[in-house]
Amino acid sequence: MAIIRQATERDVEAVCALINSSLDQYFSPLVVGFFFAQWPTGQIVAEDVFGNLLGAICGSKLDSGRASISLFAVDEAFRGKGIGTSLLDSFRRRCMMEGVGVMQLEVRPMNLRARSFYEAHGFTVIEHLENFYADGGDAYRMSAFVSSCRTG
Ligand SMILES: CC(C)(COP(=O)(O)OP(=O)(O)OC[C@H]1O[C@@H](n2cnc3c(N)ncnc32)[C@H](O)[C@@H]1OP(=O)(O)O)[C@@H](O)C(=O)NCCC(=O)NCCS
Repeated sequence: MAIIRQATERDVEAVCALINSSLDQYFSPLVVGFFFAQWPTGQIVAEDVFGNLLGAICGSKLDSGRASISLFAVDEAFRGKGIGTSLLDSFRRRCMMEGVGVMQLEVRPMNLRARSFYEAHGFTVIEHLENFYADGGDAYRMSAFVSSCRTG
């Protein structure tokens, strides 16, 4: 069972390690620390009973009542067990509490597992962003209304 909680500054190093082992782009502790500073309540982690990090969402607040899921990963050994869904649910509830109406994110078109995860939770592609990533790769921007996102 995973414990879901708001992250603190003490989690930055472990979140950074998890994100860099899960995503194909490097994020420095400074970047992760920026998310934590920008929106402390928008950083969610999942851990086991021993405090080992299992997953994390780093969110950022955008304008016009929107929030971005900027970084999102679950430890490879623990995927498919509902931890990503629990993290997304906690993030969605945080958005609701803070008056955020729309969640959005960017995902690589070839990341079919993540895309199907997001689609299963009510996200749809709203934009194709060419040359979005540092390596020149494209992205799909996906979004979902906080009120209609399926996390249960
Ligand atoms: C995308 C990601 C965060 C999803 O996390 P996850 O913990 O695997 O997500 P869940 O377990 O909640 O859901 C994944 C699947 O497992 C299934 N599942 C949920 N609970 C389950 C359970 N208790 N037992 C078995 N399967 C379960 C879900 O139905 C879901 O299936 P679907 O994808 O066909 O809808 C994870 O795959 C990941 O870290 N990917 C690599 C990093 C990445 O690509 N991040 C996104 C960048 S935009």
